[in-house]
Amino acid sequence: MFVSRVLKNLTVRQKLREGADVGNFLAGKVVAVTGAGRGIGRAVALACAHEGAKVVVNDYGVSMEGGEPRSGIAEGVVKEIVAEGGSAVAVADDVSTMAGGQRIVDTALAEYGRLDGVVCVAGILRERMLFNMSEEEWDPVVATHLKGTFTVFRAAAAVMRKQKSGTLIGFTSGNHQGSVAQANYASAKGGIISLVRSAALGLNKYGVTANCVAPVARTRMSANVPMELAEMGEPEDVAPMVVYLLSDQAKEQEITGQVYTVAGPKIAVWAQPRELRSAYADGAWTPESIAESLPGGVGQDPMPMLGKLKEMAEAAARKDRPNA
Ligand SMILES: NC(=O)c1ccc[n+]([C@@H]2O[C@H](COP(=O)([O-])OP(=O)(O)OC[C@H]3O[C@@H](n4cnc5c(N)ncnc54)[C@H](O)[C@@H]3O)[C@@H](O)[C@H]2O)c1
Repeated sequence: MFVSRVLKNLTVRQKLREGADVGNFLAGKVVAVTGAGRGIGRAVALACAHEGAKVVVNDYGVSMEGGEPRSGIAEGVVKEIVAEGGSAVAVADDVSTMAGGQRIVDTALAEYGRLDGVVCVAGILRERMLFNMSEEEWDPVVATHLKGTFTVFRAAAAVMRKQKSGTLIGFTSGNHQGSVAQANYASAKGGIISLVRSAALGLNKYGVTANCVAPVARTRMSANVPMELAEMGEPEDVAPMVVYLLSDQAKEQEITGQVYTVAGPKIAVWAQPRELRSAYADGAWTPESIAESLPGGVGQDPMPMLGKLKEMAEAAARKDRPNA
């Protein structure tokens, strides 16, 4: 019964791939998912339960801009999981507070005695051009995404270090590369990648992995992106990759410090940041010697998003929005 309801939430492609079998990728594991009341987080929570995990379902139940919190949103997903034979518990806390992050981890320990994975999906949007952006538009976006990943990673890392196992998963976005009208969001998403890579480095010797997912999926959030997204999938398309990253199979492959795009049928890995070209001064650099040698030497690395500005402006003018 649990299987059939969950399979109903999967795309046709996944149903074909998965057949009617219950997965056991996460059998015996305990996973906490933030922002799990809606959209991608909900699909991840359901998929984790489907694969045998006990799930802590966190959601503050807010509007897309982060207001009007409602506790019933997390409970709704817990009911879905429990009604179908799975095990889950709700935490309606705000991940942007240290107490909220700690409560998510403490709930996993109190209910299930361990914590094998955390998936930080919670997020909000406050779109504004940089020259008009207020502190009230900057702070809550960075607090929800970046600090909201830190609070959960921080509390979970202390447990996983002692356990000598565990997986941390952050959610970033393709627009960590930069964004015309979401500098707050893009900055937070870039920060999450650096946080994930820092966790991968700092926890490596304790057997804990950390990775990032950049999804593209039809939700209330993507419905408000001011341009057409060429590659668009469903929240259920993102969930299998998260399940894999939480599994022992991914751990055996020592997958850590990675950023994966998941968009419909596509999975892509992002390059690690690295120096492209270098030059050394003969003695010390001066502004004059840099002006002389840099343009034809170290030069620039062209920014792919700059080349898309016209196309994005045209889509915005047409009011193209992905259908949610
Ligand atoms: N949908 C996409 O195409 C897309 C693209 C790139 C990145 N993302 C990222 O994926 C994640 C999920 O996005 P979505 O599209 O499913 O959005 P969504 O709005 O459907 O879901 C986000 C959930 O997070 C919850 N939340 C917000 N603030 C919270 C807080 N402080 N504490 C706890 N919960 C909180 C909300 O209540 C909501 O249920 C986000 O981090 C988003 O930035 C999504």
